[in-house]
Amino acid sequence: MKQFTSVHDVKDIDALLEKARQYKKQPLKDKDLGAGKRIGCIFLNPSLRTRISTQIAAQHLGMECLVFNVGSEGWALEFEEETIMSGNTVEHVKDAAPVLGKYFDILALRTFPSLKNKEEDYSELYLNQFIRYAGVPVISLESATLHPLQSLTDILTISEIWEARAKKHKPKVVLTWAPHVKPIPHCVANSFAQWMNAWGKAEFVITHPEDYDLHESFTRGAAVTYNQDEALEGADFVYVKNWSTFHDYGKVYESDPRWMLTLQKMKLTREANVMHCLPVRRNVELSDEVLDSGHSIVTQQAANRIWAAQAVISEILNTNG
Ligand code: CP
Repeated sequence: MKQFTSVHDVKDIDALLEKARQYKKQPLKDKDLGAGKRIGCIFLNPSLRTRISTQIAAQHLGMECLVFNVGSEGWALEFEEETIMSGNTVEHVKDAAPVLGKYFDILALRTFPSLKNKEEDYSELYLNQFIRYAGVPVISLESATLHPLQSLTDILTISEIWEARAKKHKPKVVLTWAPHVKPIPHCVANSFAQWMNAWGKAEFVITHPEDYDLHESFTRGAAVTYNQDEALEGADFVYVKNWSTFHDYGKVYESDPRWMLTLQKMKLTREANVMHCLPVRRNVELSDEVLDSGHSIVTQQAANRIWAAQAVISEILNTNG
């Protein structure tokens, strides 16, 4: 694997899942693979899970991991080409990324979208400029439109639970929109849809209010309905996530609390497990009664972030020597 920015960088999803499972069983089995190598985790935005799980994953592989919160501690970066830098930006990515590429063997980057201009966000300017200028493999720690490490974790979690239950049928997995108080990126939902469709081992349904479509390039292959109850019927896993509007981009049109998942709604499911990438706004996106119930697997899901990150870093180390 030369880089990890979306499911398209993965030749074999099941093989990568198996690698993650092996690391979960034996975290230190490749403890010298990254000896003498460094990974730089560059954050333009906050993080709890991604930051810490990636650090732990790198340590398991014997790598040194340095975190740089460029958003709060570094020079303000410019990403546009041929711009006159007379505004607030201090350093061009064209100058910063090659330096980071000399300091690190792998660069990992977190950026968020502006949610102001859909075309700009969907062009993935920040991530692509890092890839263009870094000169070393790049891992996305969440970009403007996708969160692939989260999605790999999500499928790892679904598959381990489903295999333990030894059911004959494919699991029904529902991605449901949830209310929120502010505009939220599409990344987790886009990415989950992209990976679920590529994985193909579940019946996959997406439900959201009108105006909250996701990009068709990610949802193609999934059933989509505006009727949440219909979607929840017979579900084995319910993935709860808010995202902002699509066509009139980055807005909050709908905060109808009836979209929040409750135990009453869970009766429509087959005793489904409830997922969320975290952080979650309690009693806005998801009720206490669901989050604190036996349905919730959010902690198991977040814990699995380590094994997904370890599998990806390991693949990149193996490919790039
Ligand atoms: N799910 C996730 O990416 O969490 P953090 O934003 O805390 O890294």
